[in-house]
Amino acid sequence: MSERFQEGDMHRGKEMVNIHSRSENPDARILSNLTRTPFNYGGYNFQCVEAALQGIKFEDKERRERVFKMSGREALAAGREITNSIKAGEKRFVYWNDREIVYNSDEHRDLLKEFIKAKIRQNPDVQTALLNLSDNFIYYYVGEESEHTLLPERIYMQTLISERERLEYLKGLKETFQEAYDENKEPTYAITRKSIVNKLTEELRDRTQAKQVIVLDIGANDQRLEQELFVELEKNAISRPHVIASDIIEMSADNSLKEVSTIQTNALDLAVLSEKVDIIISNFTLNYLPKKALEESYRVLKNDGTIICTFHDLKALKEIEREELMEEALNEEEKEDREKFEFGYDRYSINDNDIDKIKKYFEDVGFQDIVVEKKKGEEEGEIISWFEIQAIK
Ligand SMILES: C[S@@+](CC[C@H](N)C(=O)[O-])C[C@H]1O[C@@H](n2cnc3c(N)ncnc32)[C@H](O)[C@@H]1O
Repeated sequence: MSERFQEGDMHRGKEMVNIHSRSENPDARILSNLTRTPFNYGGYNFQCVEAALQGIKFEDKERRERVFKMSGREALAAGREITNSIKAGEKRFVYWNDREIVYNSDEHRDLLKEFIKAKIRQNPDVQTALLNLSDNFIYYYVGEESEHTLLPERIYMQTLISERERLEYLKGLKETFQEAYDENKEPTYAITRKSIVNKLTEELRDRTQAKQVIVLDIGANDQRLEQELFVELEKNAISRPHVIASDIIEMSADNSLKEVSTIQTNALDLAVLSEKVDIIISNFTLNYLPKKALEESYRVLKNDGTIICTFHDLKALKEIEREELMEEALNEEEKEDREKFEFGYDRYSINDNDIDKIKKYFEDVGFQDIVVEKKKGEEEGEIISWFEIQAIK
């Protein structure tokens, strides 16, 4: 042990923390594979990572699944039994999805990483613990490693560190959004985007992730919805779809999200081929535009494709007042723009909104299974009420 570092030592100015189940540091304990942190992976519910690591050593499916359900210490004991029964020189395997995987192969290690990632991504407490250790040098030492060590320190720590980086990145994104909201005291409709993001996340969870899902955002503006969506998808460990962010205004090409492409196009004449899009999202845009925009949405959707969008509740007096003030505040150039885009609250939107009228608006275009919900929430001290519509082509 003398050559190894010890808990509490410093390394490059960072205090060192050993990630193990008996650590005095609660953040280190929760990150240990033995600690109860339920997660789901590959259709199984595990109590802790150890149950997964040890369970896959068992060739017999029934025994394997029994270990999958065990606590950390039980799984450790069960796994030791199998390790002891292996004869010297015998080729070793682990078993996953009815396949044999060579012990300590890259594939075996990738699977171990996936277990650890699933535990982190599905447990907010684990995420907090990992972020609490942002300023620490983390390591894993419970005795010298042999060539048979199930989870080498390098693999374990690499996974924790890369997940920690991912969480720090997400935290940074969130802080940037927050700053933008704080600067602008007006509601930014984060609340309505959140609602779309939640619905879309559920849609994407249900869709086969084997093939790339294409989402089109109409009136994407500064692509906040996309940024917020990706944060949510990361949290839920759902793969990112490809998003086409469209708007009539030129959008900033400066974006770090490689799964987003931007197109400048009029929603009344979308520059998108027919039946190419799986899901359309649109926050407060389609209700400002002539019906042609909804017809265009229908055209580009694949059969069975889904649209998720919001309409203002213009009957809510506050909203109308706000919109009127906004109209008044527009400068000449902006007014001209609005003319050009055929965009405006008082002209084409369904002004006296009610659920049946909105339903009919979608029905007339050909949509089915239309669900219109009236929603309400508070943002920046203002009550916002809106309609959320989900329908299928
Ligand atoms: C109220 S904003 C929606 C912002 C964005 N969806 C969000 O949630 O932050 C409406 C957007 O529709 C865009 N827009 C207006 N007329 C349009 C048209 N004819 N075609 C496409 N986009 C249009 C505007 O440029 C603006 O970005």
